[in-house]
Amino acid sequence: MLTRKKQSRKGNISVELAAKSSPFDSSKLWEATTHYPTGVAVVTAAPSNGERVAMVVGTFTSISLEPALVGFFASMESTSYSRLRDCDVFTINVLSHAQEDIARALSRKDVSDKLQDIPCHESPLGAPLIDGAVAWFECRIASSFGIGDHDLVVGALQAMDVPNPVLPLLYFQRSLGQYRSKSFVISGEEALLPAVSAVERARSLLEELAAELQREVVVFTRLGEEVIAIASAGEQPNRKTSLLGRRFPFAPPFGALLLDSEEETKAWIDRARSGSEPARWRDRLSRLRERGASLAMLSEGHRSFDEVVEQFSQGIHTPQQRRHLLALMGELEAEYEPEDTSLETGRDLRLTQVRARICGVDVLLSVHGMSQPIRYDEVHSIIETMRSYIDRMERKVT
Ligand SMILES: Cc1cc2nc3c(=O)[nH]c(=O)nc-3n(C[C@H](O)[C@H](O)[C@H](O)COP(=O)(O)O)c2cc1C
Repeated sequence: MLTRKKQSRKGNISVELAAKSSPFDSSKLWEATTHYPTGVAVVTAAPSNGERVAMVVGTFTSISLEPALVGFFASMESTSYSRLRDCDVFTINVLSHAQEDIARALSRKDVSDKLQDIPCHESPLGAPLIDGAVAWFECRIASSFGIGDHDLVVGALQAMDVPNPVLPLLYFQRSLGQYRSKSFVISGEEALLPAVSAVERARSLLEELAAELQREVVVFTRLGEEVIAIASAGEQPNRKTSLLGRRFPFAPPFGALLLDSEEETKAWIDRARSGSEPARWRDRLSRLRERGASLAMLSEGHRSFDEVVEQFSQGIHTPQQRRHLLALMGELEAEYEPEDTSLETGRDLRLTQVRARICGVDVLLSVHGMSQPIRYDEVHSIIETMRSYIDRMERKVT
């Protein structure tokens, strides 16, 4: 329970400064602050009278790691806050981008039990947790400080979890919305159209190549910091989803054939997971150049990798999903551009890839051994066949 008066005197915040009247129009001040984006959280509590409290805040913040303290600013005018102050425990629920309706419903004024129609479960100490929230932090109220017309409420962390690490809901310029990573903006779908239409002009040859190899042929192109599958031919009947639209970060071990300069190569190697040795990448890249093709051995690690890539490719991804994918890519790096001695062990291959220029667009032509592994003794003839088709494509559509 809060003992605001007593603790605000104890607090080390200058209350006198905040007490002076402001020369600023408060609605203009508030409007200006909305240009600074915030996340959207809901403070929830279960007072002893049984009527649950829920208050939307954009001011949730981490205050201290050791001891673990979090907090938010509550308006003195909020009726939700006046009830929250009587509770010992509250939880902060970080809303996901899919919970815009919840944010709207809960920010309405003077509604009793705002959580009535919102699916919830209970925190370990019995406060409401909103189903589907990105993260929650359960706190005991530690203290509060009166600052101007708000209280800074400080909570001592008791428990926390991140059950749904998807994109959070954001508040910006009086609107609710969501985060977009820089790489997604650069590789917006419309930017792909010139490459897609260039490759479509070579469609009949792609289909012919897939039929001759009896495998799926996938064409990738680079956009910004990603490599994206923009065409596929000869789909495999035993695979559930197409590889079309798959996207990967342009980072080791993917897309090396598209590196054109030392500067690009350095930046690409720098994107490798920590612990990856740049010198090894230099060796792999020289093998790749000697072969004029990228090769990858098939391994167990590719299975979880494929699942994560599928999620990553479905829409806008979080930075955490990108880091997870980069880490999985890093675990696979030893399978890429293998030495001749590893190839000769007779293990199956996952990928053979060559570079092509179709209608002025640089692409990667890939033959995948995902559904039907590529045998070691097939690699050279597959590469030769791919090259002969690339010659024909380049002649046909320049
Ligand atoms: C995105 C957003 C962020 C908000 N942030 C805060 C905040 O940090 N502190 C606060 O006191 N009210 C904040 N509010 C307002 C309250 O959520 C809400 O409007 C108010 O609690 C409803 O009034 P009541 O508590 O009197 O029912 C915010 C509202 C929205 C929509």
